Amino acid sequence: MQSLFDTDGGMEALGPGAAVLRGRALPCGEALLAAIDEVAAEAPFRRMTTPGGFEMSVAMTNCGAAGWITDRKGYRYTAEDPESGRPWPAMPAAFLALAGAAAAEAGVTSFVPDACLINRYETGARLSPHQDRDEADYGHPIVSVSLGVPATFQFGGPKRSDPMKKVALRHGDVVVWGGPSRLAFHGVLTLKDSEHPLTGRRRFNLTLRKAL
Ligand code: SIN
Ligand code: FE2
Repeated sequence: MQSLFDTDGGMEALGPGAAVLRGRALPCGEALLAAIDEVAAEAPFRRMTTPGGFEMSVAMTNCGAAGWITDRKGYRYTAEDPESGRPWPAMPAAFLALAGAAAAEAGVTSFVPDACLINRYETGARLSPHQDRDEADYGHPIVSVSLGVPATFQFGGPKRSDPMKKVALRHGDVVVWGGPSRLAFHGVLTLKDSEHPLTGRRRFNLTLRKAL
């Protein structure tokens, strides 16, 4: 029997419409990592530049009909990888299946993402608090999948000044946020040095979105 305090395999509320689904990506972790390698073979990871001119510490690539980019001109979605001029690689079936199942568990039926930002963190990389707000319709949730070494995720509210919770995200954890939390500020603290049998010293994150 599951105790009230047993969070393994459980759902932890992060805010209204936001939850951590522990270990949901564990059964498909290796398949997801193999799919990331295939995407990166076509659209390599790169460190993008913010509109303010800073190079991000997190390396990124994308798959799906739309990919999120940043450069001196701003943040936006594009149909093509600006490095190659070719369309972003197709969204792997394993990504779609996991995103749909996680969203359903969090109470959102028929979530079909058309964009997946893939983040790669090395030791020392961080992502400062931000909102995901470049999508056309905030009625769709964000589904975020953690793979590899653990990280500390920060999750607040729709105002930058809202207090932020800190939550450890481990290999296989999935976070879903939508509804009143769709525009919540979130970020990732500086990645500590550690090792995971499947990814070495790296952490990967999939951020699945309905962008168009
Ligand atoms: C993001 O906000 O794009 C990534 C979050 C994460 O790496 O957990
Ligand atoms: Fe984000």
